Amino acid sequence: MSKVAIIYFSSTGHTHLMAEAIASGVYSRANTSVDLMRIEGSQIIDGRWSDESFIESLQMADAIIFGSPTYMGGAAAQFKAFADYSSEIWFQQSWKDKLAGGFTHGAALSGDKLSTLVYFSILAAQHGMIWVNPGEIDYTARGTTDETNRLGSYLGVMGQTYLNFERKEPELHPGDRLSCEHFGHHLAKWVHRINSSNL
Ligand SMILES: Cc1cc2nc3c(=O)[nH]c(=O)nc-3n(C[C@H](O)[C@H](O)[C@H](O)COP(=O)(O)O)c2cc1C
Repeated sequence: MSKVAIIYFSSTGHTHLMAEAIASGVYSRANTSVDLMRIEGSQIIDGRWSDESFIESLQMADAIIFGSPTYMGGAAAQFKAFADYSSEIWFQQSWKDKLAGGFTHGAALSGDKLSTLVYFSILAAQHGMIWVNPGEIDYTARGTTDETNRLGSYLGVMGQTYLNFERKEPELHPGDRLSCEHFGHHLAKWVHRINSSNL
């Protein structure tokens, strides 16, 4: 059984919906389990993130996917607290050769979400992980927005929902949902390929 871990922060639920959609894409491959790990503010004490059960699950995973809303052009502080904690893992390089990927959600069409994905890919590189791109062409040039990659993001998956002043239940754009599902499926394919290749 291959194992994928999705570790993410979400305040109002959109990034959480992306995480669930990625997980359903991973599940669509046989023999793969997914751990959905939502970072909570209560895991951060005096600015230091810690959660033993999360750390164990991440250690067991073949692939780790990072997710956060984009806040002020970067990852949310709650995610960054987790990333800073991971320097302790970095010393042992125990995530080396695991697969990695990332996703982010923002309110603006651009919203500088790319900056968050660049940060995730650097985090993965520091850990010696192997970054997996979503691998989905965008069809925006022909005016299609309900297909995958409507935001034209090639480094990781982006989702976008305008600010929710009425405090409605969070929703995902259908194109973003599809992008997440395809990414989960794509990443699980690479987990299986690598696990069966005796590398
Ligand atoms: C402090 C803060 C900063 C934000 N900065 C950005 C930003 O730089 N770019 C953007 O597109 N959206 C920005 N937003 C909107 C959030 O990205 C959006 O509300 C979030 O993706 C919703 O995700 P969630 O429902 O998972 O919490 C910001 C929101 C907050 C609260």
